[in-house]
Amino acid sequence: MSVPVLTIDGPSGSGKGTIARAVARRLGWHLLDSGALYRVLALAAERHGVDPADSTALGALARNLPVAFAESDDDTRVLLDGDDVTAIIRSETAGNAASRVAAVPEAREALLDRQRAFRQPPGLVADGRDMGTEVFPDADYKVFLTASAEERAKRRYKQLKEKGISVNIRDLAREIAERDDRDANRPVSPLRPADDAIVLDTSDMGIDEVVARVMEILGKQVETRG
Ligand code: DC
Repeated sequence: MSVPVLTIDGPSGSGKGTIARAVARRLGWHLLDSGALYRVLALAAERHGVDPADSTALGALARNLPVAFAESDDDTRVLLDGDDVTAIIRSETAGNAASRVAAVPEAREALLDRQRAFRQPPGLVADGRDMGTEVFPDADYKVFLTASAEERAKRRYKQLKEKGISVNIRDLAREIAERDDRDANRPVSPLRPADDAIVLDTSDMGIDEVVARVMEILGKQVETRG
């Protein structure tokens, strides 16, 4: 029997990351934050002096990306070359850089196997843009989260503020719109719901409500581990 996968795709600020983590925790499943891979790749390109416009070199770097994830219940530390880059890759600058390298087909192709390797028993919750369409097209459950651009900018603002990162909300809204546009209109693996995904607009929903809806989709009782 194949290992079950739940894919959660959606644009920036749709709440994917938070929901994916909460659901993975309830189920006791593994978690793949695919955005972190693209964020680390962008940082690695900068540190290793690889020009992101050189698609062959970027693909080679992606294939051998010296990244490691250290899981705990409420956090994942991300290591690049053994260096903890968790905070660095969370900035908006890193997100924008990630969105650029993510448009390079060679980079996407090179990261496919690494992402699929996360599919380990008892199950996987995979969060990203193309989890349901390209990486795990055969996933058992597919969810696509959306929210209005305004609500997403607000959420992101709050999230960054909580992390002590100060940003201007107008600039943030503009950057989010630009990133959405790039992610949705690139020729390879653009952001879009899989045909068999359940689309949830979370603009007026709280985190617990979205988690409950996703658990309902999975047909499991909402139960807390431990
Ligand atoms: O989810 P995130 O904000 O961490 O993702 C950062 C960027 O990486 C996002 O703007 C687009 C890209 N990305 C992607 O192209 N495919 C994925 N599966 C995940 C992220």
